[in-house]
Amino acid sequence: MTNVILLGPPGAGKGTQAKRLEAERGMTQLSTGDMLREARSSGSEMGKLVSAVMDAGGLVTDEIVIGLIREKLEQGGAKGYIFDGFPRTLGQADALGELLSQLGQKLDAVISMQVDDAALVRRITGRFTCGNCGAVYHDETSPTKVPGVCDTCGSTNLTRRSDDNEDALRHRLMEYYKKTSPLIGYYYAKGDLAHVDALASVDEVAIGISAILDGEQAT
Ligand code: AP5
Repeated sequence: MTNVILLGPPGAGKGTQAKRLEAERGMTQLSTGDMLREARSSGSEMGKLVSAVMDAGGLVTDEIVIGLIREKLEQGGAKGYIFDGFPRTLGQADALGELLSQLGQKLDAVISMQVDDAALVRRITGRFTCGNCGAVYHDETSPTKVPGVCDTCGSTNLTRRSDDNEDALRHRLMEYYKKTSPLIGYYYAKGDLAHVDALASVDEVAIGISAILDGEQAT
């Protein structure tokens, strides 16, 4: 069982690489962003509560996201988890450590995905996703083979996120630098941290992540 955190700012490629790991290694992606968007589109009370915060690019409370992750981990049955967009605060990181240890599990790696801010803006403003299967595309770097049709599932329900605009992105970046980037030092101190150059191509980043998970690269 392998558990890994993909840590990086909005647009670093966490979701893209999490989907690759699911396909290639049979691991399970736990994306708190996807879970919150699902709650929002279901119209649940919690979804209504988080909607405005997400649109503005702020962080949802620790209590809500820790609850979502706890529920998934307690269901069990996975070959390993890819934490995508969680943890995002020191409180969430402490809670994840406690949850894993209660379940007799541990973290195998925390991979810091390094990019520069200019690339993030290009990536976020060109992103679209399949509303049916969640496949992630980009207008320039990874368009669908047939315009308007998902390569993976054939759906024509291709959408853009409501928080993928310049104002919300600026706020998301600010939240990242203030609240999430301290986790790099936190996991370094624990001895769990590794880095990949997330400016490389999707395939090259995937190779770098695999090398870390297979213990082929010094962390
Ligand atoms: P979330 O959904 O987690 O968004 P995010 O962290 O801002 O990350 P993104 O999904 O935007 O980017 P990504 O790194 O996954 O990049 P992707 O692979 O898509 O969170 C959304 C919101 O939910 C938050 O703002 C917050 O409100 C709330 N939330 C979620 N979790 C929370 C938590 N734990 N606590 C509190 N609140 C929480 O790639 C981006 C684009 O780049 C794509 O178009 C892709 O095709 C392209 N791309 C990817 N890799 C490459 C590459 N190597 N080369 C070229 N292009 C690439």
